[in-house]
Amino acid sequence: MFNLILFGPPGSGKGTQSDKLVEKYGLIHLSTGNLLRQEIADKTPLGLEAKSFMDKGQLVPDEVVIGMVDSYFDHHKDTKGFLFDGFPRTVAQAEALDKLLKLKKTEIAAVLALEVSEEELVKRLLNRGKTSGRSDDTNEAVIRKRFAVYSNETTPVAEHYRKARKFQSVKGEGSVDHIFSSVCEAIDKKMRLPRV
Ligand code: AP5
Ligand code: MG
Repeated sequence: MFNLILFGPPGSGKGTQSDKLVEKYGLIHLSTGNLLRQEIADKTPLGLEAKSFMDKGQLVPDEVVIGMVDSYFDHHKDTKGFLFDGFPRTVAQAEALDKLLKLKKTEIAAVLALEVSEEELVKRLLNRGKTSGRSDDTNEAVIRKRFAVYSNETTPVAEHYRKARKFQSVKGEGSVDHIFSSVCEAIDKKMRLPRV
């Protein structure tokens, strides 16, 4: 298997690049944000619980997200690999993911982090908020809260993978196609290395 994490702050282009990457590499896209929004749309108990956190720009509790990922794995047993988008977002989630992948006798091949300035991120998210219907995009205070949460709770995940020598930054500003080429170049290099 080849498993990849696309890392980066809210609005850095994880979803945009993931759509292109899964098509090119045949990976399964696992976006915890998309899964949670689907739970909300389906009005499940999990969705109802998650909504109150998401509307405020806070993280959904680790055990809820990890349980959801575990069950997603159960439904996608025969895959070439996963592309993780918006997960893991805390060190506890990263440790849980390492364990779940170990059970499948595989691991994370690389963590690619999209680097984008905060000014550009706010611009992108407010712009998307005009049409996305995402409650967490329309209000600048909630967007700023998401950045604060990212900085406090998610940046330590970068250190977790830096220690494992798996972390790599990619410039996330410029055209979507140009960024896609840089990401593909980084992936192709990793794919040439021996892996499990
Ligand atoms: P999630 O859905 O993961 O959102 P996010 O991380 O806040 O990031 P976004 O989806 O907003 O941005 P993106 O990086 O995907 O960028 P995109 O491609 O859309 O999480 C939402 C919430 O769910 C969290 O706040 C939390 O509450 C909860 N949650 C999710 N996962 C969780 C977890 N693991 N643990 C706990 N809670 C969790 O691009 C953004 C915009 O920019 C788009 O309009 C796009 O068209 C545009 N754009 C993209 N690329 C470019 C470019 N190169 N130039 C110009 N514009 C661009
Ligand atoms: Mg996204």
